[in-house]
Amino acid sequence: MRRFTTSVDGSIPTPAKSDDSCLRLLIVGAPGAGKGTQSARIRSEFPVYPISSGDVLRRHIAKNTTIGQRAAPIVARGEMVPDNIMVDLIDTELDQLDHEHWLLDGFPRSATQAQLLSKSLEARRQPINTVINLVVPEDVILQRIEDRWVHVPSGRVYNLSYNPPKTPGLDDETGEPLTKRADDNPEVFKARLQKYHELTNPLLEYYDKLGILISFKGNTSDEIYPQIRDYLTPKFAH
Ligand SMILES: *[C@@H]1O[C@H](CO)[C@@H](O)[C@H](O)[C@H]1NC(C)=O
Ligand SMILES: *[C@@H]1O[C@H](CO)[C@@H](O)[C@H](O)[C@H]1NC(C)=O
Ligand SMILES: *[C@@H]1O[C@H](CO)[C@@H](O)[C@H](O)[C@H]1NC(C)=O
Repeated sequence: MRRFTTSVDGSIPTPAKSDDSCLRLLIVGAPGAGKGTQSARIRSEFPVYPISSGDVLRRHIAKNTTIGQRAAPIVARGEMVPDNIMVDLIDTELDQLDHEHWLLDGFPRSATQAQLLSKSLEARRQPINTVINLVVPEDVILQRIEDRWVHVPSGRVYNLSYNPPKTPGLDDETGEPLTKRADDNPEVFKARLQKYHELTNPLLEYYDKLGILISFKGNTSDEIYPQIRDYLTPKFAH
């Protein structure tokens, strides 16, 4: 059995490989890179328990759990939930699992959060052992945003490159005008992407140093998913 490297000076312990063969995955990707799509595809094909930090948070608030009571007023004020509460949330999910593969999504987003989470995962000897990083060129993401038009009443989504409306600017069924979502503005989106990279680059560096980061590159989800599948399949084979 391998021992965990513990540190006496309070610094971050080095994650040691645990003995079991469980996959403990984290998926990261810029807004618009298709993280939701890839997570759903992974979940439909591989036996991973999904831990989406946003969903877990909403569930705790809805159920008025102890953590939910701490988080609710913060969320209500539109503020970021403190990192330690997010780690507690993930802990409560992991408490319910026994020797299962899992897929974490939505947290951590920064290196500081990653270190905090690592401490907690080390304590239960379940370090993250694979970080799936989705890499989609920024111009491709921005083009997709620019191409996306919606018919608000029905929720129908058109993208000019993939499924354009029959009449430019109008919904196929109703003939009503299509509009852009407020957050589909390329300028706004570009700023979001920049913020994402500032926050996330140190996180990627952190996991890369641990040797557990793997990046999958492509322009579309259909291009990227087969690579992820090829990577995961042998890991689930035994
Ligand atoms: C949550 O539970 C506490 C008691 O544990 C109660 O005082 C509070 O009113 C509840 N809040 C909601 C929104 O149900
Ligand atoms: C185009 O829109 C459809 C929904 O109508 C969506 O499923 C698909 O992922 C979109 N493609 C891109 C590249 O955004
Ligand atoms: C991906 O998109 C870029 C444009 O940003 C293009 O140059 C490249 O050829 C595309 N790759 C594929 C495989 O379609």
